[in-house]
Amino acid sequence: MECQKHLFQFKESVTYLNCGYMSPQLKRVEEAGIKGLKAKRNPFNISTDDFFGQTERLRTEFAKTINAAEANRITVIPSVSYGMANVAHNLSLSFGDEIVVVGEQFPSNVYPWQSLARKTNAKIITVSAPDTLKDRGRIWNEEIIEAINPRTKLVALGNIHWADGTLFDLKSIRKKSREYNAWLVIDGTQSVGALPFDVQEIEPDALVCAGYKWLMGPYSMGLAYYGSALDEGTPVEENWINRYKSEDFANLVNYNDGYQHGALRYEVGEHSNFILVPMMLEAIKQINTWGPINIQAHCRQLIVDLVPELHKHGFWIEDDKYRASHLFGIRLAEHHDMEQIQQALKDENIIVSYRGDSIRISPNIYNEKSELDKLAEILVAHSS
Ligand SMILES: Cc1ncc(COP(=O)(O)O)c(C=O)c1O
Repeated sequence: MECQKHLFQFKESVTYLNCGYMSPQLKRVEEAGIKGLKAKRNPFNISTDDFFGQTERLRTEFAKTINAAEANRITVIPSVSYGMANVAHNLSLSFGDEIVVVGEQFPSNVYPWQSLARKTNAKIITVSAPDTLKDRGRIWNEEIIEAINPRTKLVALGNIHWADGTLFDLKSIRKKSREYNAWLVIDGTQSVGALPFDVQEIEPDALVCAGYKWLMGPYSMGLAYYGSALDEGTPVEENWINRYKSEDFANLVNYNDGYQHGALRYEVGEHSNFILVPMMLEAIKQINTWGPINIQAHCRQLIVDLVPELHKHGFWIEDDKYRASHLFGIRLAEHHDMEQIQQALKDENIIVSYRGDSIRISPNIYNEKSELDKLAEILVAHSS
C-alpha cells in the first residue's frame, strides 16, 4: 500500500515514529469532531438516533475490524481501566486462586487485578521477561504457558508487549487457559487496528482497546468486546442507558430491572458522546478500508532494511516470529551511547519513545521507508 500521509493533519518537518504514544489525526476524524461539536448549537436537532444509532454503527464497524459475529458484544468505554474494571467486577475469586500477567504490563491491565487479588486473597503471578536476549520471545511465551495451572482463573495480557513489542502467542495461551476454565482478557490497545485480531479465532473473554493509538480515534474513547462469560454480569456503574428499553424516553421512570442485551450493559454512561463517537466511527471506517493486514504489511515493508542493518551494528531487535512490525524495541549494546542517539534523533526531528536502554519505534501507514532508513542511518552513525 502507498504511504497515506496525505490523509492526516501533519507537520511536514517531523518524522513521527511514535503511534504507540498516540496516533496523529486523520483529516476525516477531525472534521467529524468539529461537526459533532457544532451540533449542540441546535440541540433540537439531536435525535434519539444520535443517542443510539451512532454507537450502533460504531459497534458494527468495529465488529468488522475484529471479526466479531455479534456487534452487541462491543461496548463504548472511556479507557482501558474502565473496560478492565467491568471484568474485575464480575470475576469471582477466592483464596489461592491465581491471575497470570506478564512483567511490566501496562498499569491499566494490572491495578484492577491487584485490587481484586487483595480483596479476595488471590495471587498475582507475574511472568517477567527472561534474563536473556537469545530466544527471548520464545522462552517468554513458554513461561507464560507454563504459569497457567488449575489454580489460574484469569490470564490478562496484551497481544504484544506495549513497551518492547514482544508478540504473545494468544492461540496457545487461549488453549491452555481453556483447559482450566480460566478467563483470557486481552489489552488490544497496542495492536488492534495495526495487527489483525480475530475474536472468533482467539475467543477472548474480553478484548479491551483504547481508541487513540492504533485505532486512530480521539482520546477518552475506547472499545471493548465482552464474551459470553460476562453475559449475565453486572456493570461497574448503573446508568439509565444500559437498562432494557432505555430507547423509550417516555418510560424512563418506569424503572427497569433488566439490562440491555449482550454486552451493552457494560457501556459507559453517556456513551452517545456526540463529538467522540462520530470521530471514532470515522477512524474505524478508515482502518477497515485499509485493513489491519495491509497496515501490518506496510509496516513490515518499512523496516525490511532497517532490521538487518541494525543487527549488523550490534543493536538487538526481537526475532521476526516474536515481534510485530508496527511496534518494537531496539536495544542498544554497551558501545552505543543513548544520550548521543537521543540528541541526534532530536536534531533530525525524529520522534520515538525511550524505555530504559531501548528505543521504541512505532511507525504506521503515514510513514515512508525513507524515514525508517534515515533512522537506521543515524543509529549506525552512532555505533562506533
Ligand atoms: C498497552 C496499553 N494499554 C492501555 C493504555 C491506556 O490505558 P487507559 O485507557 O486506561 O489510560 C496504554 C497507553 O499507553 C497502553 O499502552
